[in-house]
Amino acid sequence: MPASKIFSEIKWTDEVDSTNSAVLREIDSLPERFVLAARLQTDGRGQRGNRWVSAPGENLTFSVLLKDIGIPADDWMVLSESVSVAVVSLLEECGIPDASVKWPNDILVHGRKIAGILIENALEGKYVTRSIIGIGLDVNQEVFPLDIPHVSSMALETGRRYDIAEILDRFIVHYTDILQLPREEVHRRYISRLFRFGKASEWILPDGRRFMGTIKGVLGDGRLEIVDECGGIRRFAFKEVVYSPLS
Ligand code: BTN
Repeated sequence: MPASKIFSEIKWTDEVDSTNSAVLREIDSLPERFVLAARLQTDGRGQRGNRWVSAPGENLTFSVLLKDIGIPADDWMVLSESVSVAVVSLLEECGIPDASVKWPNDILVHGRKIAGILIENALEGKYVTRSIIGIGLDVNQEVFPLDIPHVSSMALETGRRYDIAEILDRFIVHYTDILQLPREEVHRRYISRLFRFGKASEWILPDGRRFMGTIKGVLGDGRLEIVDECGGIRRFAFKEVVYSPLS
């Protein structure tokens, strides 16, 4: 099905606190599939309660609303994998072929973060019934605050400037294609781009302890499977383990 049929409504606004928050406020009056993009977010939100700061008019900051979806809660990761793979495909089309996905869904190019994703789901019983998927993609910004290290943008990677609205339209085309793929194919594409998949890496636990291990897989509920040096399989939910910057 073409993108225009699934996401018939893409709304642009000049300024909003956060596109995720705005979609949530208006949720009852919005269609089942909807996209809100903002030229400026005054209170952009990131993962782990962080702020998402983006130069006005330079980058893409937008949210995709999926209502009435009924995805099993123990396979909610399909939402994260689909959007990550769509961003990677978009970057590929735009001349950036080597993006990877740092679990669960940071998009990296040459080890620098180029896009972040914030997914806010509603659960009813054993199902995710709606999802607000917020995406911040650095497009034309070339200078970043010093306290945001290891970042990149499409312009920094290719030396070109991009039409922001066109990039959003292209994202929607990729995303629509991926939403129609079988679940296993989405997972295969996600794993094929997973940062440090199959490579021994150092990991840090919330209490500061470290261990060496290799990513074995990602489960439908989002948990990361790591094989440690003794051959034991450890499973971690988001926030239960981080990559060591040294690995
Ligand atoms: C992260 O911390 O990596 C996630 C960043 C997500 C930022 C996007 S920008 C559009 C949407 N609205 C928000 O307030 N956050 C997300």
